[in-house]
Amino acid sequence: MSKNIFSIKHTLLQKADKEKLLGQKGIVLWMSGLSGSGKSTIARALENDLFDKGFLTKLLDGDNLRTGVNNNLDFSEAGRMENIRRAAEVAKLFVENGEIVICSLISPTVEIRELAKSIIGAENYYEVYINASFEECAKRDVKGLYKKALNGEIPNFTGLNAPFDAPSNPFVELKTGEEDLETSKNKLLAKVLEVVTLK
Ligand code: ADX
Repeated sequence: MSKNIFSIKHTLLQKADKEKLLGQKGIVLWMSGLSGSGKSTIARALENDLFDKGFLTKLLDGDNLRTGVNNNLDFSEAGRMENIRRAAEVAKLFVENGEIVICSLISPTVEIRELAKSIIGAENYYEVYINASFEECAKRDVKGLYKKALNGEIPNFTGLNAPFDAPSNPFVELKTGEEDLETSKNKLLAKVLEVVTLK
């Protein structure tokens, strides 16, 4: 596969060089949770706060990626796997550039998240579980998708007729059904600042 390809990686500037320039540690925050659990909202608010504090960030959101680099993928198991593989490869490029990458994708299974982690590298991968129950998300139904899914109009809908495995040992778990988004975001921000601030 890599015949006749000569990696120039060893001559490139390294992650640590970029981190020194930026004055931050680059990490990937991998936010997993049901559709409508609050991933994108928390991701956007967190990115704004980090920006205001002088950090360089990159937000990669499932819905957005699916309009571009992932626009040929469906919600089958294989489609989701490829969706996550590409998102993780993109996240890796940014984290190697020293940036704080916030990924918000359902990433519903242990296998899918293990794939992301293996691509990104365990040392840079920080899993965040946005925990809201199916019932809570269906009640909010911000995009009207739960109504459609419950009417049988959406195949493979996560939590209904496609699996969602809760992350078992996340870096942070936010229960968005029990606390408001501001509280959740501030909890996450505090934990993230502990990690990304260069000592
Ligand atoms: S993932 O499972 O492959 O990680 P991703 O985060 O990219 O999903 O996209 C999820 C978004 O796609 C949801 O927030 C929702 O708006 C939309 N969507 C469309 N069809 C489905 C479906 N069958 N299951 C879940 N989300 C869906």
